[in-house]
Amino acid sequence: MLAEALKYAAARLRGQSDPYGHLAQQVAIWARHKRHSAVWQPHLTRAKALALASARACPEQARRTALVMGPGLLLDVPLDELSALFQTVVLADMAFVPEVRARAARLGNVQTLEVDLTGRLGQRPDVVPDAASGLAQVAADLPELDFAYSANLLSQLPLFALDALKPERAPDMAPGMKQERRAKLAAELVRQHLDGLKALGCPACLVTDVTERGLRQGVVNYEADLLFGVQPGLTGESWIWDLAPDGEAVRGLDVERVVLGVSDVRAATV
Ligand SMILES: C[S@@+](CC[C@H](N)C(=O)[O-])C[C@H]1O[C@@H](n2cnc3c(N)ncnc32)[C@H](O)[C@@H]1O
Repeated sequence: MLAEALKYAAARLRGQSDPYGHLAQQVAIWARHKRHSAVWQPHLTRAKALALASARACPEQARRTALVMGPGLLLDVPLDELSALFQTVVLADMAFVPEVRARAARLGNVQTLEVDLTGRLGQRPDVVPDAASGLAQVAADLPELDFAYSANLLSQLPLFALDALKPERAPDMAPGMKQERRAKLAAELVRQHLDGLKALGCPACLVTDVTERGLRQGVVNYEADLLFGVQPGLTGESWIWDLAPDGEAVRGLDVERVVLGVSDVRAATV
């Protein structure tokens, strides 16, 4: 707990803001990863291998800019290799801990971009999504984009947007906002990201958790859809991420996530 508080404070003291809790979530992931690094390793290794294979498939003459969305702590990002393959690597996230900024600076061709990839945080839920916001805007600002990697971000996008609508954050609208409208907004954001990846005009690798399962002694106790009813409609690899074994997240249960890995969403649409 103390280590987490210090890590959070260090980032805030270096000027990292945290209006919607992204930094706090990254610090929580950092702490959970420390506790479970061995069981997380197969998932992280697989995600990195897929992203790297996808990046290496880009023709050598088309390796100008690579965009990594949701890089967070870089646990599932083969950053050194991407930095060697591409002229420029752009890391796009809502927050960065100082260690990630320092690693990017050391590599010399890696930029950190603080941006909301939904373009919806802080907006009213009834605002019609602006097609040129979020991911589309980031891509428009990177005309030399030759590769994109969405790094375990998709299922998180709606959570932060919905959280931003909690009563204390949006006093004028949250209480009246119907459950149905919240679910619709969440699904819209998932679809918007998937459509945004397909529209990029370059190979776009996707790694996302799609389902969470709680197990008691190997028997499924609950199963939850993490993509708010949206079927990605993509063929790819699937594997299990042992997220929180031994009742750490849910008392008495091992929590695992089913992960979907897609080398290039444009080629994988069914
Ligand atoms: C589950 S973490 C991904 C793990 C990360 N790839 C790693 O290796 O640590 C989700 C990431 O998405 C970022 N994120 C969530 N919502 C976002 C948004 N609207 N715009 C940009 N980044 C966002 C979070 O800050 C976080 O770093």
